[in-house]
Amino acid sequence: MNAPAIASESPATAATAAAIAVSSVSKWFDGSEGQSLLVLKDIDIQVPAQSILAILGASGCGKSTLLNIISGILRPDRGHVCINGIPSRDFQDWRSVSYMFQEDRLLPWRTALANVEFSLEAGKMPRAERRRRALEALQLVGLNGFEDAFPHQLSGGMRSRVALARSLVLDPCILLMDEPFSRLDAQTRSLMHQELLRIQQMKHMTIIFVTHDVEESVVLADRVVVLAPRPGRVREFVDIELDRPRDPTLPEVTRYIQRLRALL
Ligand SMILES: Nc1ncnc2c1ncn2[C@@H]1O[C@H](COP(=O)(O)OP(=O)(O)OP(=O)(O)O)[C@@H](O)[C@H]1O
Ligand SMILES: [Mg+2]
Repeated sequence: MNAPAIASESPATAATAAAIAVSSVSKWFDGSEGQSLLVLKDIDIQVPAQSILAILGASGCGKSTLLNIISGILRPDRGHVCINGIPSRDFQDWRSVSYMFQEDRLLPWRTALANVEFSLEAGKMPRAERRRRALEALQLVGLNGFEDAFPHQLSGGMRSRVALARSLVLDPCILLMDEPFSRLDAQTRSLMHQELLRIQQMKHMTIIFVTHDVEESVVLADRVVVLAPRPGRVREFVDIELDRPRDPTLPEVTRYIQRLRALL
């Protein structure tokens, strides 16, 4: 890592009510010509428990990098992330944090059920219990009857549902999603939005999702953070103060969509 030398900052001492707190996070990558590339600069984001945050920004502005830092896959070069008030480097309960990657990453040689069970195989859970939970997760995303189908036998929307079931089977408190529905047609995407909101309400999850889709951010999120590019930094927070469900054709929803488009 090529971050300029600097005294490491200490994590926040005060406990925070936020499920996720990103404080003064900066990240450098090695550029192709050996130079240091500042990808994220001084990011501060608080995500209250049980709320939904959307991260919106142009391609390459650092959205996935930020999600990777929040998930603990990458370390920030400056600043820190706290999960439930615990600095991420000391956080132990990573099983309560699920990460749904942009590509579905299903194993082609396993059935839908076996793909979902896969999430549970790292632990010591008995086989019968794994199966019970995986069946429950598939049911939750409306895939009963497709347990024995292989990924190539499923539509894109169904594959997304399997990926969502695989994220949900661990019963996460926090769900991180990187453009989870970007490959779906508009109708399936809208269906998945409803499913996600229903499950979030039922399970009381905190969700951060990355999207390019302004409408998706307004329909789903409590708060949208717009990132500016090069280096990635917070341009603006927009709180979506509308009841759900949010019909994207309603004027009050369209106003938010227009406001966010103007910021991008
Ligand atoms: N491992 C890496 N090494 C060097 N540079 C990287 C690495 N990962 C990402 N980058 C660079 O960091 C910047 C941000 O990448 P990132 O994948 O976070 O963007 P993004 O906002 O998710 O883009 P997209 O919307 O296209 O998915 C880009 O310029 C990218 O080239
Ligand atoms: Mg990305």
